[in-house]
Formats: sequence, C-alpha cells, structure tokens
Amino acid sequence: MSIPSTIIIGASRGLGLGLARALAEHGGTVTATARGHAPDLAAAAAASAGRITIATVDIDDDVSIATLLAGLGEQRFDLVLVNAGVSGPRHGSATAVTRDELADLLWTNAIAPIRVAEALLPHLNDNGTLAFMSSRLGSVALNTEGGFDLYRASKAALNTLTRSLAVRLKGRPIRLLTLHPGWVRTDMGGPNATLSVEESVAGLVKVLEANRTPGHRYVQYDGQELAW
Ligand SMILES: NC(=O)c1ccc[n+]([C@@H]2O[C@H](COP(=O)([O-])OP(=O)(O)OC[C@H]3O[C@@H](n4cnc5c(N)ncnc54)[C@H](OP(=O)(O)O)[C@@H]3O)[C@@H](O)[C@H]2O)c1
Repeated sequence: MSIPSTIIIGASRGLGLGLARALAEHGGTVTATARGHAPDLAAAAAASAGRITIATVDIDDDVSIATLLAGLGEQRFDLVLVNAGVSGPRHGSATAVTRDELADLLWTNAIAPIRVAEALLPHLNDNGTLAFMSSRLGSVALNTEGGFDLYRASKAALNTLTRSLAVRLKGRPIRLLTLHPGWVRTDMGGPNATLSVEESVAGLVKVLEANRTPGHRYVQYDGQELAW
C-alpha cells in the first residue's frame, strides 16, 4: 500500500532524492527538502505532475528549521523521514579529529536529526512512521571489523538518541524506524558500493510501506532486522 504523504529531510541528491522519486511513483505526495541549489531534485519535481514539492531546510540551523515549519502550516504527513547525513573527516580517526570537525559531524548526524524530527512530530499523522536514515555502521553489536570510527560513532549516537526518543513517545500512535540502506553508490557511498540507488530505494520503500509494527525497529533495506 502506498504512503499517501511524506516529508523527506535531505533530498537534494543520493538516497533522499531516490526515495522522493520512488514514493511519488508509488502514488504518494512528497515534500522533499534541500538546503540549497538542487537541480536534480528540481528536475524530479518538474517531472512528477505535482507529486513532489520542494521545501528548504538546513538541519544544522534552528532558524532554518523554524522557517520550514512556518512554511508547512497545517500540513501533515504519514511518513517523516530524516535522511540527511554527512560522512565526516576522511581519516575517521579519534586521534586525528579536531573538536570542530567532531562537533560538526555529531551535530549533523545525531543531534540535528533529532531536533528536526521533534519539530516535525506535530505534523505526523496518527499511526504514521518516523524514520531515520542511520547505517549498519551505527550498530555497536555488529562492529566486528572497525573502520570509519567517527562516522560509526555519529550513527551510534543517532541510534541511542532515537531509542530515547522512542521511550519518550511510548503510548503515542507512532511507529519508529531506524534504517540501513545498504552500501549504495552515492556521493557518500562511492562508485564501488554494492547497490544502486534504485535497488536500495526499492527495498526501503517496501520496508516503509509494510511497516505496521508499533514501537521502534532497526531494519535494513531488504527487511532484515539489525542488532543494536
Ligand atoms: N550511501 C551509503 O552507502 C550509505 C550507507 C549507510 C547510510 N547512509 C546514510 O544515508 C543517508 C543519505 O546518504 P547518501 O548516500 O544519499 O549521501 P549523499 O549523496 O552525500 O547525500 C546526503 C544528503 O544529505 C543532505 N544534507 C547533509 N547535511 C545536511 C544538512 N545540514 N541539512 C540538510 N541536508 C543535509 C545533503 O544535502 P546537500 O546536497 O545540500 O549537501 C544530501 O541531500 C545519510 O544519512 C547517510 O549517512 C548512506
């Protein structure tokens, strides 16, 4: 069953753009956000027969979040999907990172997603889904090979903050999902990744459309549950 209305935070390119296209193709309407010039999203919106509309937000900036909310008015959604994320410094190392680099990474990947999600909660319909794009690399339990240490830590922080949010939301008719898209050929995932955006997004849309489970789950693109 298609999802009637969605807002995707961070849809200028990569997975966010792919999800906007796919959810619109499945018959839903999508408010897709970018923080600046987003020609590919503009083209997708132009080709969508009005199913995709564009809004602006930089989740690092509280004023920008407030402006997004003001623009939404009374609009409500069945799915709020916070997709925006960054990979952080290339070295990924706790011994090499500066305070500013770490602050930026943690802010964008862990703190800002929670802030924008909490701001959007009044716009989420009952029995709707609040979803966060995390990563398998955010799993503490599955970290057996190391690497990408700081990015892992930022997504683990997002997962922990999201678990706490789920506790605060207990009793409310909201479903929470923490998602892993697979390793995907985007600017972030690079050209050697195993999945195309279309393959990942096809799986993610199935997971999102089939989600009837109350509470909070950590699920990857093919429906497999992940250990926290
Ligand atoms: N690709 C993978 O293999 C992979 C694997 C696991 C998890 N993920 C996660 O999936 C999500 C999407 O990744 P991707 O591969 O599609 O990456 P991407 O191609 O680099 O796209 C990242 C998106 O996030 C947006 N963004 C970044 N910082 C933002 C901010 N402060 N405010 C608003 N938007 C912001 C970007 O907007 P701009 O265009 O303005 O920069 C862009 O739309 C991320 O959370 C990532 O961590 C990706």
